[in-house]
Amino acid sequence: MIFDTHAHYDAEQFDNDREVLLADLRSSGIGGVIDPGCDLESSEKAMRIAQEHDFVYFAAGWHPEEAESFTEDDFSKLKTLFEHPRCKAVGEIGLDYYWDKTYAEKQKEILELQMALAFDKSMPVIIHDREAHGDCLEFAKRYEGIKGVFHCFSGSAEMAKELLKRGWYLGFDGPVTYINARKTLEVLEICPPDRILIETDSPYMSPTPMRGKRNDSRNLVYVIERIADFKGLTIEKTADITFENARQLFNIY
Ligand code: NI
Repeated sequence: MIFDTHAHYDAEQFDNDREVLLADLRSSGIGGVIDPGCDLESSEKAMRIAQEHDFVYFAAGWHPEEAESFTEDDFSKLKTLFEHPRCKAVGEIGLDYYWDKTYAEKQKEILELQMALAFDKSMPVIIHDREAHGDCLEFAKRYEGIKGVFHCFSGSAEMAKELLKRGWYLGFDGPVTYINARKTLEVLEICPPDRILIETDSPYMSPTPMRGKRNDSRNLVYVIERIADFKGLTIEKTADITFENARQLFNIY
């Protein structure tokens, strides 16, 4: 069985066929999914999907790209979602300096609030780090004791070592299958199998040979194949280990 620890099935790209697709995932060997929210509305939508599907769990969080729309009022409503039994993490949270840094300070403030919350609740976090490696690593160092995953990890092998040493997991997505995956493969090389999580980031980041199409958890087979091949493991073993890793990190039993 396969565990997709990062899929946005709440996204509007799935509005037309969500139920059919989720039923199909279930019969295609997908045994677990975490749907991380990106603001109040998407976190609530992820919660409803998790309520209706026994293999789907959700995380609640405020994504850095949504920093502009953050309000105290919405955040206090978001905080109530962590009491839900199917809420397994604080996420998707983090820093994103890729498009512009206009909201960099606000992103940091929002991340700080959510790291503190995760710490108080002893919940794992799902970190989005895009072009913000130094600052994200600083948060991970400062909040020693928090566990979580760097989703679709794009940092260096050096940074990966710092995170692994502190108990973090690393998320591998479609890019591991790309022809220019050199940096990601350097990270995969030093990442022990028991810290690897596999993710789609659906509907985005489809692996080769599905690039350009809407992504879903069935495409994880390509990610698993690549990791298995690179690590010298069987496909089944890779699926099993990463499934168990997901259960460990997110306390799913
Ligand atoms: Ni995401």
